[in-house]
Amino acid sequence: MKCSRCKATACVALPSHHAGFCKDCFPLFFTRQVETAIRREKMFTHDERILVALSGGKDSLALMLELTLQGYDVTGLHIDLGIPDSSQKARAKVEGFCEANSLNLEVFEMEGWGLPIPDVKRFATRPVCSVCGRLKRYHFNRIAVEGGYDALATGHNLDDEVARLFANTLRWDAPYLSDQGPVLPGSDGFVRKVKPLFRLSEFETANYAFLKGIEIHADPCPYASGASFTEHKKLWGDLEHRSPGQKFQFYQGFLKRGRQAFALLEKETGDPLNPCTECGSPTNAGICSVCRIKAAVQEKKRQAEAG
Ligand code: AMP
Ligand code: FES
Ligand code: ZN
Repeated sequence: MKCSRCKATACVALPSHHAGFCKDCFPLFFTRQVETAIRREKMFTHDERILVALSGGKDSLALMLELTLQGYDVTGLHIDLGIPDSSQKARAKVEGFCEANSLNLEVFEMEGWGLPIPDVKRFATRPVCSVCGRLKRYHFNRIAVEGGYDALATGHNLDDEVARLFANTLRWDAPYLSDQGPVLPGSDGFVRKVKPLFRLSEFETANYAFLKGIEIHADPCPYASGASFTEHKKLWGDLEHRSPGQKFQFYQGFLKRGRQAFALLEKETGDPLNPCTECGSPTNAGICSVCRIKAAVQEKKRQAEAG
């Protein structure tokens, strides 16, 4: 196969784009996709300050590099989950990457905050991954708001977005369907959330990271159950193989025709928000869910330690 741009030998085939690219032209394709995403979805401008959530995986590091090359004002944010062995490795990759590229980085430690993820695994009543995800989103927002950032960017790619949309659709989960998308506008107490890689598949971000020589943290989380999301991704892999482009059409169709309907539905039922009496984050209860989870886990730990 020949590169669609320069006719050299292609190293990445992209059936969904009826294209293939060589190692020099593929990053240009990647850049165009990110530019299109930012422009069409009005994600942010060159005058704004962007906080980029860096897990150490291929997607978020690829995103950070690409936004830097495009001249955006970016700062990395890594949340050290405090999981033995795994978290040290992820953090080292993020720190090494930021140092090598002279990028600003903030690191937040869950242990220092009083709730390392192993305690959540041991003492929380809900599955560790869903609590961990909620805690991460809470700190992303809090740190972005406190730091006066204009937007918080994550490395979610097309496969992540389609798997989530598919899971939400299987449950017809209206609240989640109403605000799933590549941009969630900011509002009182909430920073704007953006996903500039939403047009790119996992395969494409992996290729970009590889061709750019980014050293990534590739190990899965030791607590991940590999449950439904992974299954849904496999299913979508089959569909995409049979009919290239279907993933993007499904997601794009939802953005154009589905999301609005759910947003209207939810608008009428949303409760008013007030600052949490403990931490000040917006909540529709007196004390926010994160403060309640933290107190409950710490209490159970105290009891266990007291014997
Ligand atoms: P995941 O939910 O693990 O697929 O991660 C989705 C996105 O969330 C990543 O691309 C990152 O932008 C962000 N993220 C996940 N874990 C962390 C972390 N420990 N610290 C900072 N950002 C993270
Ligand atoms: Fe949070 Fe695995 S439990 S990343
Ligand atoms: Zn709170």
